Amino acid sequence: MRERIQKLNDELFEKIVDVRRTLHRNPELAYSERETAKLVTDTLEPLGLEVQTGVARTGVVATLHGGRPGPALALRADMDALPIQEENAFDFASANDGVMHACGHDAHTASLLGTATILHRLREQLPGSIRFLFQPSEEKLPGGALPMIEEGVLGEAFGPAPGAIFGQHVHPGLDAGKIGIRSGRYMASADEVHIRVEGKGGHAATPHLLDTDPTLVAAHILVALQSVVSRYCPPDVPSVLTIGRFIADGATNVIPSQAVLEGSFRSLDEDWRFEAHEHIRRVAEKTAEAHGAQINVDIATGYPVLHNDPESAQFVRDTAVRYVGEENVVDLDMWYASEDFAWFLRKAPGAFYRFGTRNEEKNIVHGLHTPRFTIDEEALRMAPGFMAYLATQYLTA
Ligand code: NI
Repeated sequence: MRERIQKLNDELFEKIVDVRRTLHRNPELAYSERETAKLVTDTLEPLGLEVQTGVARTGVVATLHGGRPGPALALRADMDALPIQEENAFDFASANDGVMHACGHDAHTASLLGTATILHRLREQLPGSIRFLFQPSEEKLPGGALPMIEEGVLGEAFGPAPGAIFGQHVHPGLDAGKIGIRSGRYMASADEVHIRVEGKGGHAATPHLLDTDPTLVAAHILVALQSVVSRYCPPDVPSVLTIGRFIADGATNVIPSQAVLEGSFRSLDEDWRFEAHEHIRRVAEKTAEAHGAQINVDIATGYPVLHNDPESAQFVRDTAVRYVGEENVVDLDMWYASEDFAWFLRKAPGAFYRFGTRNEEKNIVHGLHTPRFTIDEEALRMAPGFMAYLATQYLTA
């Protein structure tokens, strides 16, 4: 089966690269993935897959039935791009000003279409069914995964309920051809912290007449917040609080009427995560109170911690060793980015793994979410086939 799939991936390679380039040239932001969804539908419908569009607005769900009864499995790709101006010069660079596939979702979508095409060719020999999830809006809160789940993509509304789900993400720090996986906690929760400190504002010469100075109070809060992780977080729980925005828009001779702090709070533990929210709130509110300032603290919860089911992660690892060889399988460190695939993994067993896209010789080394990001397309000689192989191994296990 492995050699057969590798051969099919080779045959389809140019077509998969073509699809990736088409998507790369025409990136679409969260919940605007109309052309992308159309390309997905136009690829899968002629193969005879059951295709449902408009799932969670712009998502697509397609089901492939094998030749005999068996288990069901779900595979997911995300489709949206980022609000970044591309700085690559190749002929398939983004034609959409200010929008760019800088996180590899073009490659994820092209790869999953390749996987579906490969599995379609093998369908007579396959038991069970495979549900392909093309998800909108991974990059923008609250994300497309949760609404897809709410519309029943992991349940029986779309056919036999999948017993597991797998997803993949490009890895610009890993050479093309390699597969990375981590068991258990892999990616962070990410919440947004918005703090607004309010006062009267007025002349810089007369702070004593203004009750409070929002700039000074916000500065105290910024420093005090550093105690949240350093003093209250258990030392074995990875956690980060970064205030990346501090706006106090007065002037040399003007005390502003408000100051704003905004930041990102990330952790790899769900209990600590919500405890930390309380610490952030208390430290900010009490510091403001101590200085007589009004304050508004808003914490917008983002995606949860992504937890790979250990058995599924081991299954991915073992299958990867058979597909690309032990020397090409990498055990990953935790990754502090966040990903709404975490929601799927809260509802079904499964795992989220990475495939390498770096190539130093070709100077393909730029990070995710940067204007020079791209992938070594040779990665697509492996990724679609590996996911197809993973599916066949799951269904016939
Ligand atoms: Ni991404």
